[in-house]
Amino acid sequence: MSKGREAFKHIVANLDYPMFVLTTAVADQRSGCLVGFASQCSIDPPRFFVWVSKKNHTFALADKAPVFVVHALRETDCHLARLFGETTGDKIDKFEHCDWEEGPNGVPVLTACDWFAGTVIDRNNSGDHVGYLLDLLDAGRADHAKEPQLGFQAVRDLKPGHES
Ligand SMILES: Cc1cc2nc3c(=O)[nH]c(=O)nc-3n(C[C@H](O)[C@H](O)[C@H](O)COP(=O)(O)O)c2cc1C
Repeated sequence: MSKGREAFKHIVANLDYPMFVLTTAVADQRSGCLVGFASQCSIDPPRFFVWVSKKNHTFALADKAPVFVVHALRETDCHLARLFGETTGDKIDKFEHCDWEEGPNGVPVLTACDWFAGTVIDRNNSGDHVGYLLDLLDAGRADHAKEPQLGFQAVRDLKPGHES
């Protein structure tokens, strides 16, 4: 590995940024994964970018899904980070192991989380991940919204369900 690439790897591994669970659905199929590669990218119109690994089970569905729901995790949501980050839809139905209800376009909204839904209006092939540009559709706030957010440093030792 080149010196620059090594330094980059070290720098990004030590950043802290919020963690999210992305969910999506097409017809009666549902999928979702833990994501850290995500950011608001426009205020007006309100828009958000989220990146999904091409290796994830979620990717196959994400690539044809019209709507995503993004959940902003809090420190009390570690169990959701583990469920959505360490297991894969290739092997289990994650939605049998958490509380959720159908949200916009039938996409699962996880109970007791802050969430927003967006229509996918653009896709960007970024490398080993694909970026999805979401245009805000709806959002909801949970009671625990004032608890500290769950950051990457708190979950960086989780073992991804898929190598990314
Ligand atoms: C700390 C952490 C951050 C992650 N960030 C992302 C991410 O930004 N995008 C992504 O596609 N996967 C990310 N993953 C990996 C997926 O969440 C993980 O491989 C998951 O098991 C995939 O589930 P699926 O195969 O059901 O889609 C991350 C995992 C961890 C532990």
